[in-house]
Amino acid sequence: MSSATDSENDDAGPRGEASPGTGQLPIIRVLTLFPEMVRAVLATSIPGRAERQGQVRYEVTDIRDFAVDKHRTVDDTAYGGGAGMIMMAPPVVEAVEKVRERDDATVILTTPQGETFSEELTLELLEDLRAKGELILVCGRYKGIDERARELVVTREVSIGDYVLSGGELPALVVVDAIVRRLPGVLHDEDSAANDSFTADRDGGLDCAWYTKPPVYRGLGVPEVLMSGHHANIEKWRRQQSVERTRQRRPDLAQGLDRGEAEGKGGGRKPRQDRNRRTR
Ligand code: 6GU
Repeated sequence: MSSATDSENDDAGPRGEASPGTGQLPIIRVLTLFPEMVRAVLATSIPGRAERQGQVRYEVTDIRDFAVDKHRTVDDTAYGGGAGMIMMAPPVVEAVEKVRERDDATVILTTPQGETFSEELTLELLEDLRAKGELILVCGRYKGIDERARELVVTREVSIGDYVLSGGELPALVVVDAIVRRLPGVLHDEDSAANDSFTADRDGGLDCAWYTKPPVYRGLGVPEVLMSGHHANIEKWRRQQSVERTRQRRPDLAQGLDRGEAEGKGGGRKPRQDRNRRTR
């Protein structure tokens, strides 16, 4: 099987962080009709670093290699008619059965009909990867996949939101990114996940506003409290920001956030563009 490993080991680290469940490096297998697309993304940024540092391994498999005819056909028209091509069951089933190391491995199909992806599901899949040492993602095509492939090998179906994409590759990459950034040691202090949006540190709410140099840009300053060096006040301000932002932008996530926090005095100016900017 081909591995997604790229050769530019710009920040290669020590190999061999063992997965407690298996004594092996956890492996994420991605089955797709567009292996080059998937490999390119998994070799980049934090997912790439996670593999180079030896915290996870990726294996990208071309479903077309498991076609059963000489034309390497992987899709066909739907029985009963209708526009669009359906992914055939045999290549998908054969591919999963070939790459799967454990019979009880979780096999996720990316499809708009799946359960909606979330931070909660990320943590569940992270635990699954840790426990079994293996996680398999099958990238669906948007029109669909023969129901018998679902029945035979798929154990879970995931969507990344209520809109239609051309294929399940981007969703699968979203899922992998969300999982691997939470593997121990993948994120350094400078990109720590501890207080990101949706984390326990934020009580599931949104992240606060952040500033860096320069101190004044186009006449816009930085809230004074952040320049004060008073760490307790800074923490308090950030917490208030986070709560306020969650209330304004995502009232659906605001349940359970401390009522008192949002109304507290902020200790600084509110940037003008804050009203329009989307959450990070
Ligand atoms: Cl998982 N697949 C496709 N094709 N479109 C989507 C999706 C998945 N999630 C949201 N839109």
